[in-house]
Amino acid sequence: MWGGRFSDTPSGIMQAINVSIDFDKRLADQDIQGSLAHAAMLAKQGIISSDDHAAISQGLAEIKAEIDAGDFAWSAELEDIHLNIEGRLREKIGDAAGRLHTGRSRNDQVATDFRLWVRGNLDHFAGRLDALIRALVEQADANTDTIMPGFTHLQSAQPVTFGHHMLAYAEMFARDKSRMEDCRARMNESPLGAAALAGTPYPIDRDMTADALGFDRPMANSLDAVSARDFAIEALSAASICATHLSRLAEEIVIWTSAQFAFISLSDKYTTGSSIMPQKRNPDAAELVRAKVGRIVGATTSLMIVMKGLPLAYSKDMQEDKEPVFDAFEALDLALAAMTGMIGDMTPNKDRLAEAAGAAYSTATDLADWLVRSLNMPFRDAHHVTGTIVALAEKQGKTLDALSLADMQSVEPKITDDVFSVLSPLASASSRLSYGGTAPSNVRAQVKRWKKKLG
Ligand code: ARG
Repeated sequence: MWGGRFSDTPSGIMQAINVSIDFDKRLADQDIQGSLAHAAMLAKQGIISSDDHAAISQGLAEIKAEIDAGDFAWSAELEDIHLNIEGRLREKIGDAAGRLHTGRSRNDQVATDFRLWVRGNLDHFAGRLDALIRALVEQADANTDTIMPGFTHLQSAQPVTFGHHMLAYAEMFARDKSRMEDCRARMNESPLGAAALAGTPYPIDRDMTADALGFDRPMANSLDAVSARDFAIEALSAASICATHLSRLAEEIVIWTSAQFAFISLSDKYTTGSSIMPQKRNPDAAELVRAKVGRIVGATTSLMIVMKGLPLAYSKDMQEDKEPVFDAFEALDLALAAMTGMIGDMTPNKDRLAEAAGAAYSTATDLADWLVRSLNMPFRDAHHVTGTIVALAEKQGKTLDALSLADMQSVEPKITDDVFSVLSPLASASSRLSYGGTAPSNVRAQVKRWKKKLG
């Protein structure tokens, strides 16, 4: 493509380090879309003839069909997706192919292709996140009053409802979706027409190409247009945050499916056996979702480091922008799909959850609150009295609600029978009616809100 200035061919090493077709062929659709928009604009502006435009459009449509059918012969000599497609177009329509590159450069071309690709993926993730949120809301709906232990420090703290726990993740994933939407809105400007770096003397119409490609407007600065990759970094950042949420939920699934917890079970669909231990059912899908965050955060770091310190405008360093994004997005896509599947698949073990919810004096706070409310005791004193009662229960090997009234009165004589109304895990959770609290009635209201929102 630049034979005019060169008399020798590149060394094998030069070619090996330079070639990108193996991975950027993923941008084929976007590259063709961009070229179609550019050619239409060149024709409308009278920069190329309508005959050339017709030949270019026809040729590109044929090339797209060849690629879709898997019939396209990718060439490493032609380096990248742009030159591969242009080379094939030349084979098909001859000289008219050479006019397609008028008023543009591979620098704005690749920036456009990559933006379109990232944008399409952000839209795809929004759909995936909706499906995951829907699955969480379904589990919440089926478990608005399923009592389980709530934890701090992974130590039993206070009883909560399983539905409440599911909806906590629905909140996180909804924020992830909104982060992706924000990113999409910010990145949706067209680099096309920035040309190599400085713009072009041809009377191009950048609004027209921006519009044809679904961008809100052309980017205002040509140097920025060809060298900005913050859109990809931002998309990766949103993906990283989402992956950390997935990883936390995956970790809970791993813990909850262990024999020691046995809070939930997963079916054969989302577990694997062991080749040596016949009793095993391993939560491999959850473990892999937990791990995928590694590559996704790694990709974010990788692209930031590629971009740091790069002078304006385009440098070939930027060819290294794509693989981390491709890999991270593939990982996130799979992780979202697997998590959605597992959430739909899991069965909470209600008896076991209820038993665990009552263990470890989880309603001690309720006892203290009862002392405050019924005996008008200052909370600090109530805390102390409750601590003494817990120690007594521990000595007797009993749960709080199994202690006798006499035992409680031995610590605080004013305690009455009424105290038992607050000591069960269900009573404890049901009393937490403050906005955002875990009470089943709150969870039912939240499920309703979510269902309305999801449509
Ligand atoms: N394959 C290149 C990339 O991915 C396309 C842009 C090449 N531009 C250039 N001036 N060499 O960045």
